[in-house]
Amino acid sequence: MKTKVVLITGGSSGIGKAIGIHLKEKGYKVYGTTRNKRKYPAFSDFPLLEMDVRNVETIRSCIASLLALESRIDVLINNAGVGITGPMEETPHEEVLRAFATNFNGPLNVMNNVLPAMREQKEGLIINITSIAGYMGLPYRGIYSASKGALEIVTESYRMETKAFGIKLTTLAPGDFATNIASGRYHTPVHDDSPYKQAYKSTLESIDADVDSGGNPAEVGEKIAKIIETKNPKPHYRVGSFIQKFSLTLKGILPGRWFEKLLEGHSSH
Ligand SMILES: NC(=O)c1ccc[n+]([C@@H]2O[C@H](COP(=O)([O-])OP(=O)(O)OC[C@H]3O[C@@H](n4cnc5c(N)ncnc54)[C@H](OP(=O)(O)O)[C@@H]3O)[C@@H](O)[C@H]2O)c1
Repeated sequence: MKTKVVLITGGSSGIGKAIGIHLKEKGYKVYGTTRNKRKYPAFSDFPLLEMDVRNVETIRSCIASLLALESRIDVLINNAGVGITGPMEETPHEEVLRAFATNFNGPLNVMNNVLPAMREQKEGLIINITSIAGYMGLPYRGIYSASKGALEIVTESYRMETKAFGIKLTTLAPGDFATNIASGRYHTPVHDDSPYKQAYKSTLESIDADVDSGGNPAEVGEKIAKIIETKNPKPHYRVGSFIQKFSLTLKGILPGRWFEKLLEGHSSH
């Protein structure tokens, strides 16, 4: 069988890099993306192509250059993403749009530009990296949750619309993993006169502690490899600690107010 060509958006760091390293070890032909190759002069794990998912021109040229090199894209992993925190009432609207541009519109545009090639190949797999946070409106992370939840939902639509062309789609929702996500995250400033000041400040501290003590992103790479090797992937997968994965089951079975109390006590990424 021919070596599968895999494109990972945001392959330069964290989860995307870990996925790329694992898939390369498994024998896949891996390409990652970054907004700026010059930022990673020593990166040698797999080739990096330039793409900013907020800029459709860069998406088109990146995919065109990969197709010129390999003539096919077997697996697309929409991994590039950013965090955003803030009280809903105080999060600047332009930052809401920026987060959605990266976490939602970006993956849509990447998919729309890869689908014609996959249709021509009569096969292809797209895995959208969402988040366990996308299944629940977390306090002070509502915009992040919403952007990831929106990606979960449209994946279901794409999945049914493209099945007839031999294309498969799924989502993988990670819990907390130790990456650089905190450094790229937009934090709404904690205003001294804000009614949310104390609660927001302590949530911010716990979010950072959760990421720092999160799992090894290599685990996400292993999960991705299993999904690629699955003949007929499920619509959705999760990866993370038992309690983070189990939180989704709890949401389904607990009365709404109980579940809310749990989230108020502690929330996952
Ligand atoms: N870490 C966690 O606990 C966790 C949990 C759930 C979900 N996730 C999701 O996992 C994915 C990877 O995050 P991570 O934790 O690995 O964070 P990370 O270490 O900050 O990596 C983010 C990656 O996204 C790329 N990126 C950011 N903005 C981009 C843009 N506009 N266009 C193209 N690429 C862009 C970055 O590339 P350059 O900066 O090189 O351009 C980088 O490779 C994200 O979708 C995140 O939401 C993470």
